[in-house]
Amino acid sequence: MKYGYFDDQTREYVITNPRTPVKWINYVGTLGFGGFVDHTGGLLLCKGDPALNRITKYIPQLPGSQFKGQTLYLRKRSSAGTQIFSPLFVPTLDAYERFECRVGLGYTQFDTEFYGIRSQISIFVPKGDAVLVQEISITNLGSEAVEIDAVPLLEYTHFDALKQFMNADWVPQTMMSEAHEDGAGRKILAQFAFMNRDQRQTYFTANVAASSFETDRRVFLGDNEYGTFQRPKSLESAELSNTLALRGDNVGALMLPLGSLAPGETKRFVTLLTQQEGSRTESLARARALFEKYGRHETVASARTAMGKDWDAYLGRVQVNTPDASMNSMLNVHNPRQCYMTKNWSRDLSLYQLGFGGRGMGFRDSSQDVMGVMSNMPEEARELIEKLLSVMKSNGSAMHQFYASTMVANEGDSREYEDRPNFYGDDHLWIVFAVCAYLKETGNLRFLDQVLPYYEKDKHGAPREQGTVLNHLQRAVDFTKSNVGRHGLPLLGFADWNDTVNLKTGAESLFVANQYGKALLDLIELFEFRGDHAQANRYRADYEHMRGLVNEYAWDGEWYVRYFDHDGSPIGSKKNAQGQIWTNGQSWPVISGFAPRERAQRALDSVNRLLNTPNGIKLSAPGYDGFDPEKGGVTTYPPGAKENGGIFLHANPWVMIAETLVGNGDRAFEYYNQINPAAKNDVIDTYECEPYVYAQNILGNEHPQFGLARNSWLSGTASWVYQVATKYILGIMPGYAGLEIDPCIPKAWDGFSVRRRFRGAEYLIEVTNPEHVSKGVQKLVVDGAPVAGNVIPAFDDGKTHSVQVTLGALADTGEQAAQ
Ligand code: NOJ
Repeated sequence: MKYGYFDDQTREYVITNPRTPVKWINYVGTLGFGGFVDHTGGLLLCKGDPALNRITKYIPQLPGSQFKGQTLYLRKRSSAGTQIFSPLFVPTLDAYERFECRVGLGYTQFDTEFYGIRSQISIFVPKGDAVLVQEISITNLGSEAVEIDAVPLLEYTHFDALKQFMNADWVPQTMMSEAHEDGAGRKILAQFAFMNRDQRQTYFTANVAASSFETDRRVFLGDNEYGTFQRPKSLESAELSNTLALRGDNVGALMLPLGSLAPGETKRFVTLLTQQEGSRTESLARARALFEKYGRHETVASARTAMGKDWDAYLGRVQVNTPDASMNSMLNVHNPRQCYMTKNWSRDLSLYQLGFGGRGMGFRDSSQDVMGVMSNMPEEARELIEKLLSVMKSNGSAMHQFYASTMVANEGDSREYEDRPNFYGDDHLWIVFAVCAYLKETGNLRFLDQVLPYYEKDKHGAPREQGTVLNHLQRAVDFTKSNVGRHGLPLLGFADWNDTVNLKTGAESLFVANQYGKALLDLIELFEFRGDHAQANRYRADYEHMRGLVNEYAWDGEWYVRYFDHDGSPIGSKKNAQGQIWTNGQSWPVISGFAPRERAQRALDSVNRLLNTPNGIKLSAPGYDGFDPEKGGVTTYPPGAKENGGIFLHANPWVMIAETLVGNGDRAFEYYNQINPAAKNDVIDTYECEPYVYAQNILGNEHPQFGLARNSWLSGTASWVYQVATKYILGIMPGYAGLEIDPCIPKAWDGFSVRRRFRGAEYLIEVTNPEHVSKGVQKLVVDGAPVAGNVIPAFDDGKTHSVQVTLGALADTGEQAAQ
């Protein structure tokens, strides 16, 4: 790889060339306290809401070479003179002898060599404590003794992330610093905005003596800031100036004289950054206690070990061994890690989603994100599901987004036009899938009886109404049932899953029609399992009704249309010059089971013919060429970008699911493989984003920069690709009665194996494919005994069970889509 490689042993991606096309990042900590570290050590750190309590100033739009949030300088003195450089490469950009940035599980670790000095820097946030720990070891690899000073540097932002950029008078007037002695020459630098002086403060320290400090950026850079971060003037003097910045751009720099390092000698230290609440006295005392704790290298080591164990537990629930190495890397480490991050961060904070307060948690997004962690942390998923259910409205629709810290929700962009509906056609239906996935994973059907509020509040702020979880789900499908348009199809509302198509009131959505169909299938299955056939039949009738309408009105000859506009005209039809065919219009009628087999096949073939590219499946074609306010946001993009005919990756796994449902394992895997970031080695300079996480979008072939990825990390792609790979391609699907085994793999595969924990037992599943089929379980043997059908019982006995699955041609019918 040009920029790095996968180290599957250590579960890391190792970046060996810092000049990546864009920053490649990793998350540390949680939304409670955390953020991201880029591969040259830049840091965006927040405590709680990234819009309201941001700590370091990270400006993604600055060039990659620029200082962002933090760095570390080393000053080396030897007989050859003085060298000042950053072991993180940025911002000094010196020539390195070795550069290694290990993107790990919850940590990032650097191992670099510049001028004969090896620096190992490990950055993480220990579980349960709001402190960013950086453990740093400096080794003299040369043959003569050297003197080393280390200067860690942070740049703070105003806590109100947006104000920092909106007001260049008020903000600088408010920024304050303090310095405290901490025994043995250690220093603690405090930073706060004046209005928060008595509420919360940020503290930065090192566990070794600091001979001086700096808190004023202007002084640190020198020359009225014509000194640069690449060559700060202040580092030309023996000591920093000990200036206390009481306005302006605040930084925190410590001069740490490590003294002389003999050849081969290593010196270690730790830097710590925290924010604490309360008066300055109280918060400083709390910070000191944390600094005392994590100033000890043993505590740092045990915190790292504990974090590793948590990841072992999380990842250990599903481990696979397939014939495809890139698939293994992704499914065993990187894809579930991304699912964890999307569940935690929703769409709040990334290199592309800047956390300025526009989003918070999205109802639709989080409902899908929880499904990505369902196999690995179902109870944490349930906690988020409860929050989501609590922001549903009593009519069964959902508030579009909410802030997890306050649980205040709003209708998102749907408030934009007064004459348009302020519900989204799809939001509320996702939660049906999430709840059913939880029930199947855990078998905890009591959850259905739990009473939770609806969002509307009385004048005291108390919920006006509440209902059981089951009641929430029923109201969700009822809302769709009773909000239909002129064809009897569900109303689009402000938008459906595709946020950017905003049609006039009265428009209908085929996406929602199919999503509703799938939600009904889930409820039918649930009620049948509970033995409530009457309810199941009621939903069956609704399902048949909608199936009839979809097939009567939406079939366009070679594919299904995507929308009907307010005046009843189709969008996504051969009648349209642009936006003729839409991916979601084809995958979802297969997922819902609405498409008869022949139409399912034809629709999926149309996707293959008209929308597939070597970089993934486009969302639609041809793209709209020019802004059209009638269509909305989709036309703000040039053709081939994002929702306007771009490769919107989130929608790709739905096509893969559909292909598995019709039994086409080769195509499902081809689609899986062509978007696998781990397989992007040869095109990484075109692709540009991290090879270890999915991006949200790739420019499509109508765009001159076809193949360029953006918006990595926080995308529903993570959840759905993980689901399709584990549940549909490898076919290990949790069901009410046990684990259903129904793989749909490439015919060329000889087999694969999966280790899966499920409801209190472990299953070692070996799948063999002697006849080289894609689908069809011919034989199932559990603990040496044949089992009829394809369901492994949920033993719940704390034991490990061996499962042998033999695939064979006879059952290769792909029946599900033939309904
Ligand atoms: C990104 C949004 O976060 C998601 O909610 C939406 O479904 C997709 N864009 C598609 O528009």
